[in-house]
Amino acid sequence: MSGLPDVKNAPEADSSVLRIWGGHSLRGHVKISGAKNSALVLMAGALLCSEDCRIHNVPMLADVERMAQVLSALGVRIERNGETLDINAKDFSTSKAPYELVTQLRASFFAIGAILARLGVAQMPLPGGCAIGARPVDLHVRGLQAMGAEVQIEHGICNAYVPGSNRRLKGAKIYLDSPSVGATETLMMAATLADGETVIENAAREPEVVDLANFCNSMGAKITGAGTSTIHIKGVSQLHSTDYQVIPDRIEAGTFLTAAAITHSELLLSPVIPDHLLPAIAKLQEMGVNIIEEAPNCLRVMPAEVLKAADIETLPHPGFPTDMQAQFMSLLAIADGDSLISETVFENRLRHASELNRLGADIRVKGNIAFVRGVPLLSGAPVLGTDLRAAAALVVAGLAASGETTIKGLQFLDRGYDRLDLKLQQLGAKVERIREVDADAAIASAAH
Ligand code: EPZ
Repeated sequence: MSGLPDVKNAPEADSSVLRIWGGHSLRGHVKISGAKNSALVLMAGALLCSEDCRIHNVPMLADVERMAQVLSALGVRIERNGETLDINAKDFSTSKAPYELVTQLRASFFAIGAILARLGVAQMPLPGGCAIGARPVDLHVRGLQAMGAEVQIEHGICNAYVPGSNRRLKGAKIYLDSPSVGATETLMMAATLADGETVIENAAREPEVVDLANFCNSMGAKITGAGTSTIHIKGVSQLHSTDYQVIPDRIEAGTFLTAAAITHSELLLSPVIPDHLLPAIAKLQEMGVNIIEEAPNCLRVMPAEVLKAADIETLPHPGFPTDMQAQFMSLLAIADGDSLISETVFENRLRHASELNRLGADIRVKGNIAFVRGVPLLSGAPVLGTDLRAAAALVVAGLAASGETTIKGLQFLDRGYDRLDLKLQQLGAKVERIREVDADAAIASAAH
């Protein structure tokens, strides 16, 4: 895809480091990019139609580049012009997605619903697990089987095909054991072109699911109920072109809210959709942080006198988002009092606690519970981001830690944040991105 650096081979993506000198407050206005977890699935949704799809407000992310490579490997024409993607899946030639790309990008597996709906056959590598959990796809598979697909999993490949002469999926009534975001999106896409009506019960209610439904409906799909636990999809024979804008990234916005809170800063954030941020806003207000809607789609966050401790339990939307848990742990690490964080969505998403403890936090983890005892101040140190949101949490903590914090693992950060270091620099943070060899030399010289 033209227009973006080829992050797959970019050396600095894997070997650069963030250096942060903490204790500086932030000020000004930060522009929030399009939502990663919407843009990726809309790109998959473009496979449903054989005409031009134009998608605006697409963030500049490594994961977007990877998804574009998956689509290109399928024979889809895709062109990036700044934050706009032009996609045409008229002649996508094969249903075989490239193994090495799909295993790096779980969201690409969601395309199996669209590929099956269009071609009646799909070979999709299993995405595999990652740092935060096993990440199974059983709910996706069982839903597709309910819609008439035959699915065999062997050698790490999910082989699916629709028997019968017209190779068309059939509408079905599907109950999801858990409100999986990806499974809801996979099945919603598959159902748009199925024969008859599909009902998805216990569906995920995340804003990105709603954005996908709106995107598909802009192409002529007939989806109702997105955003509730029951989604109805009336299959149609084909979908048409669209020109669509991705919603703002609520997790990026939430990350900047925690960055402002931890540095006792006043910031403006836009565009945002406040309704998408209700759990994070409510929790910050409970902690003493004041947040007002300055103007439509614009929030002003103001510093708290004292950051109060608070308990967090992550839940499917509209509960507190698991993707904000790590960033809030950084904030609670310097709150006044004890907090308890319960991670109920993923089985291994508390690994950032040990890295925060290297920065002087006092956090004990037992199972999926973290006990956070607030400390007055963190102190800078070299730390390692183990997944996307863990890396973001370490950036947030580094902004407040005294002295210098160096953060490795930026390949994770680049997956989900659009030039985070540049945005922070523009807000007055003392942040620089340097090559790892230079950072190691700087650490070594500081040690003498
Ligand atoms: C989406 O992942 C997001 N990714 C994740 O964001 C987010 O954390 C997650 O939803 C929960 O909100 C994208 O949208 C690309 P799930 P997804 O299916 O769809 C279990 C980030 O940081 N499960 O809702 O993979 C699963 O193991 C990323 O931006 C099954 O058991 O999440 C997990 O415990 C991380 N079987 C729980 O459900 C299945 O078939 C929630 O997973 C599918 C999921």
